[in-house]
Amino acid sequence: MTTHHPAAVIVLAAGQGTRMKSSIPKVLHRIGGRSLVGHAMYAARQAGPRHLAVVVRHERDRVASHVAELDGDALVADQDEVPGTGRACECGLDALPADLTGTVLVTMGDVPLLSGETLLELTRVHEERGSAVTLLSAVVDDAGTYGRVVRDADGELAEIMEFKDARRRREEGDPDYAHVVDIREFNSGIYAFDVEVLRRALTQVGQANEQGEKYLTDVIRIAREEGRTVVAHPLADLMQTEGVNDKVQLAALGKELNRRVVTRHMRDGVIVVDPDTTWIDADVTIGQDTVIRPGSQLLGATTVGAEATVGPDTTLTDCEVGDGASVVRTQAEHAVVGPRAAVGPFSYLRPGTVLGEGGKIGGFVETKNADIGPGAKVPHLTYCGDATIGEGANIGAGTIFANYDGVAKHHTTVGRHSFVGSDSVLVAPVVIGDGAYVAAGSTIEGRVDPGQIAVARSRQRNVDGWVARRRAGTPTAAAAQAAGADGIPPQDRDDTHPEQSAQES
Ligand code: UD1
Ligand code: MG
Repeated sequence: MTTHHPAAVIVLAAGQGTRMKSSIPKVLHRIGGRSLVGHAMYAARQAGPRHLAVVVRHERDRVASHVAELDGDALVADQDEVPGTGRACECGLDALPADLTGTVLVTMGDVPLLSGETLLELTRVHEERGSAVTLLSAVVDDAGTYGRVVRDADGELAEIMEFKDARRRREEGDPDYAHVVDIREFNSGIYAFDVEVLRRALTQVGQANEQGEKYLTDVIRIAREEGRTVVAHPLADLMQTEGVNDKVQLAALGKELNRRVVTRHMRDGVIVVDPDTTWIDADVTIGQDTVIRPGSQLLGATTVGAEATVGPDTTLTDCEVGDGASVVRTQAEHAVVGPRAAVGPFSYLRPGTVLGEGGKIGGFVETKNADIGPGAKVPHLTYCGDATIGEGANIGAGTIFANYDGVAKHHTTVGRHSFVGSDSVLVAPVVIGDGAYVAAGSTIEGRVDPGQIAVARSRQRNVDGWVARRRAGTPTAAAAQAAGADGIPPQDRDDTHPEQSAQES
């Protein structure tokens, strides 16, 4: 079977979308990590057309720059003040080469679940039947305000009648149209046209209808009157024809899209523990036998390798997670987690975090612009910003990389297999060499060379009898007295309490 590709796709995206009640143009609202028009353009590209045109008008500049950003080869066509889908289509045609022949598909910028496969099927049916117009239809119990598919006595497509026009004719008592409002088959608004028929017919379409618009659907009646074949091709998968008109539909289609994406990953071998609480954007890739635990969101351009674990309750945006890595209860953005590395629980990875193979970022650690080498560990309660940490290094609990002096950011380097003691502050710029130590509680301001230990804290000083003098009468003083506080160090006393020696071990 040969695959039929359309010569062009025109995406209609000039409408206003009043019911969204939003300052964001309707087609720029997002589900599954892409804008609505982004989904339409993606499906269009999947069909492999030579040309792709997007028709814009409402919030023209915002939509046009978004379209250009998504696809530099897409043509932006401006609709003029003449309203209606027919006029929109005419303006789209004007952006295409004048000598174009073959099949042109027309889709809508607010119908996000339509797939590239469906567009290829539409093209195939259209071309195999030698049709002038083929539209995708669907059958429902109540076709609402959709255009009705009117068929003739032989069951062939006769015309599309808009709901408002059908209702008016019924109110006027026109017997030929009394039943049209009750027709359950509706026009999805997605079509394949022979481009020459479309061009010619559109010049004949007027605006004499309830809405005073130039209807694209009139092309069907005109083509049929010319004796051309017109076809309504029913699509079983209703959701692919659903448009977004308000924020309720936006959420509903977002949920359905997610269900489809999650199902696709499970069929491809990903283990999703709870599909209902797992959100995966359309462009995410995940390897086999990776486990996604409940409450996780994999967003944007995130890629996860095989046999990894993500979640529970983890949000990854534009992240790369290697094979066998584990990311637990974590928020991460523009971060790379190497193979077999471990992150979490309760970690916050900000942009520019790169964790090497087998490395660890542990609980209550925040990282930003930090390159943490293979096998290196930042296990507990640390802020690590603007840092390069060498292979196998260990950053003690509570270490702070003080990267900001109030004006500028500065860098810290920790060498290979070096050890930074707990509760240290590294006041950048700092360079700690390979194989060096920083004593716990140090404040480091400069360099530590390979093989050195830096101790940057004051020595401990014990003052005998201080509690008795300065806190007399308190429970603390009583406890000290009961413990025999008299200024003699405990190790030099023969009545050492057993629990004191236990604490030292
Ligand atoms: C249209 C169809 C109707 C079909 C329905 C499916 C016509 C006359 N009717 O109705 O048969 O059942 O879609 O959803 O075509 N647009 C423009 N420029 C315009 C008007 C619309 O680009 O001047 C775009 C919109 O942005 C939208 C699409 O065309 O993406 C459909 O427009 P809409 O106004 O929703 O069409 P309907 O009247 O609902
Ligand atoms: Mg509509």
